[in-house]
Order: sequence, then C-alpha cells, then structure tokens
Amino acid sequence: MRAVEFQEYGAPEVLKVVEAETPEPGPGQVTIDAVYAGVNFADLKARAEGYRVESLPYRPGLEVSGRVRAVGDGVEGLRPGQEVAALVGGGAYAEVVVADAVTVFPLPEGLDLRTSATLPTVVPTAHALLHEVGRLRAGETVLVHGAAGGIGTVAGQLARAAGASAVYGVVSSAAKAEHALKHGYDEVFTTDTFADDVRRVTGGRGVDLVLDPVGGDTLQRGLDTLAVFGRLVSFGNASGSEPWHVGQPELYARGRSVGGFSVLSLAQSAPEALRALAERAFRTVADGTVNLPVTAEFALSEAAEAHRLMGGRTSTGKLLLRISG
Ligand SMILES: NC(=O)c1ccc[n+]([C@@H]2O[C@H](COP(=O)([O-])OP(=O)(O)OC[C@H]3O[C@@H](n4cnc5c(N)ncnc54)[C@H](OP(=O)(O)O)[C@@H]3O)[C@@H](O)[C@H]2O)c1
Repeated sequence: MRAVEFQEYGAPEVLKVVEAETPEPGPGQVTIDAVYAGVNFADLKARAEGYRVESLPYRPGLEVSGRVRAVGDGVEGLRPGQEVAALVGGGAYAEVVVADAVTVFPLPEGLDLRTSATLPTVVPTAHALLHEVGRLRAGETVLVHGAAGGIGTVAGQLARAAGASAVYGVVSSAAKAEHALKHGYDEVFTTDTFADDVRRVTGGRGVDLVLDPVGGDTLQRGLDTLAVFGRLVSFGNASGSEPWHVGQPELYARGRSVGGFSVLSLAQSAPEALRALAERAFRTVADGTVNLPVTAEFALSEAAEAHRLMGGRTSTGKLLLRISG
C-alpha cells in the first residue's frame, strides 16, 4: 500500500510517498481502507519539530474516514465494509490505517465520508474547550485564537449555540476575518492588537473565556484580557514558545483560572471519556449546529502541498487528503 512518511524533520518536502507493508489489526484494533484523511496543525508540528514523534521514519495523520477492512480479536460492534471515521495517534496518511476500536465511530447520521474525515480531531476538541474544560455558560463572552482554522471554525459556532453573549475571534490577517464572521463570530481582531480590542469592545470588563492554541506572549496577553472569574484554556503552542508556568500572582487577584486540554492525551488516558465526548460533539454536526467546510482537497501524494498551505497561515476551515474513491 501507499503511505506518506518522513525520514527527517524539516520543510514540507521531507514528506515522501512510500510503498509500505499493509498492516493487520492487533487485539482491540481494526484496519480501515482509507478514503479521506484530515490535515491537522499537529501533523505540521510533527514534521517540522518532532511533536509526539517517537521514532523515524514517521507517518503523520490523526484522523481518517473509510471502510473497515479487518477486525482484530475482541472488537465488537464493527464489521468489515462498515463506513467509519476514526481518531488515531498517527499514521492516517496511508491507504490502510490501524485504529483502536474505541476511537472508531460509525458515520454520524446523514454525514458522508468526506465530511466525516474532518470531524474526529477538531470537533471533540472544540466541544471540550468550551464545555468540559471551559465550562461556558449562556450570556458569557468568549475569545478564540486561530478563529478561521479548523478548531476556530467549530468553536465559534459552538459558542454561539451555547448562548454566548459575544464571540470574539483572533486571526493573523484581515483576509481570514470574513471566514470567521460566517462561522459564529461577532467580531474578529488581529493578533497584534487583540488585547486592546477586547478591552475596548467590553468597556474594560474583559471576556469570560479565552481559548489559546498559541502560547507564549499571546497566552500571557490573553490572561490579561480575562474578566473577574475568567478562564483561559491552553490547548496548543503554535508559537513554539517555552512552556509558560502559571503563577499565583497572575491568578489570585481577579479569581482567574487556567485549564488545559489534549484530545490525543485523553484518547490514551481515558478513551471511554473521549468516546463519549466525541459522540456528543458529532451530534452538533449531524444536527446542523456546526458546519465545518473543506476549503481544499489534495491527493495523498500532494500532502506536502497541504502542509505548505496550512503552514503559510492562509488556510481556513479544514484541509483534506483524498486517499481513494
Ligand atoms: N489540544 C488539542 O487537543 C488540540 C487538538 C487539535 C488542535 N489543537 C491545536 O489547535 C490549533 C489549531 O489546529 P488546527 O489543526 O485546527 O489548525 P488550523 O487552525 O486549521 O491551522 C493552523 C492555525 O495555527 C495558527 N498559526 C499558525 N502558525 C502560527 C504561529 N506561528 N503562531 C500562532 N498561530 C499560528 C493559524 O492561525 P492564524 O494564522 O490566524 O494565527 C491557524 O489557525 C493548533 O495550535 C493545534 O495544535 C489542539
């Protein structure tokens, strides 16, 4: 079978199509004949700097849709030929993908394989950021960084559906603002001025919840935009900054809280909790609350192009690799 791997860290060119042995499922696993794979920012981080990579060569890809090919010992409720979407720890850039059955999902009602490939990573994550960790209540205000990207597109719509009184987004360029404004956001600011903008539009009060995938200085400035009793949820480090350690002085004065979330870590530490979260989150797509547009689709052999587009910070919504069919 064909797969995309890298032997060394670097620019998108390190992604190569290889002929690989077709895998068989172990106990508790299935293999999937892949039709689409989603592209995530974490795939770029893996390729460029080894994020979550244990050894080389490495095959990226965290989410896939397709048909169950074979079922391992002990797996119940999945059968060969069934259409599914799956969250995997890596390896989805391939014609055949191995997945733990606990994170393999029958397609949500009414959704096709193409849409379903976009869901496993970002939809449960956005749901968890707002609800399970961020504990958003109706009437509160929210600020989301990376508002036009995969997570951001979902988070804006979910925040609005939860009754947020205002949903603010942050993007790196004005060109991306239009996309965010169509997906739940009331106003969109740019990275350099967002803290002042938040103070201006909230009359100095600040926001109740900040979702931060950037880290570093952006995280620090986000903390300063929190209202009394505000929460910030850290879920990425796109800036590549040193990890920031939360200290008492930043938190005590106004009763602020900082939380964190990683969908991949949850899949390892509490897979049943991740499954329940994903099922809740997928319903918001099936019932039309959330629309996550695919804005570009590439052949498997063009994975480097997809990485260039996302890495150039001009992509919006979701990028897909078309693997077969
Ligand atoms: N913790 C989790 O469970 C989890 C799960 C999924 C994703 N994530 C994180 O969520 C973020 C979005 O992921 P995605 O896959 O949906 O990607 P995406 O948002 O579709 O695309 C990448 C995003 O990163 C931002 N970005 C790129 N380079 C950056 C830089 N140097 N500094 C700051 N921002 C930069 C871009 O926003 P602008 O150009 O507008 O700034 C863009 O929105 C990523 O940071 C990812 O690691 C975390």
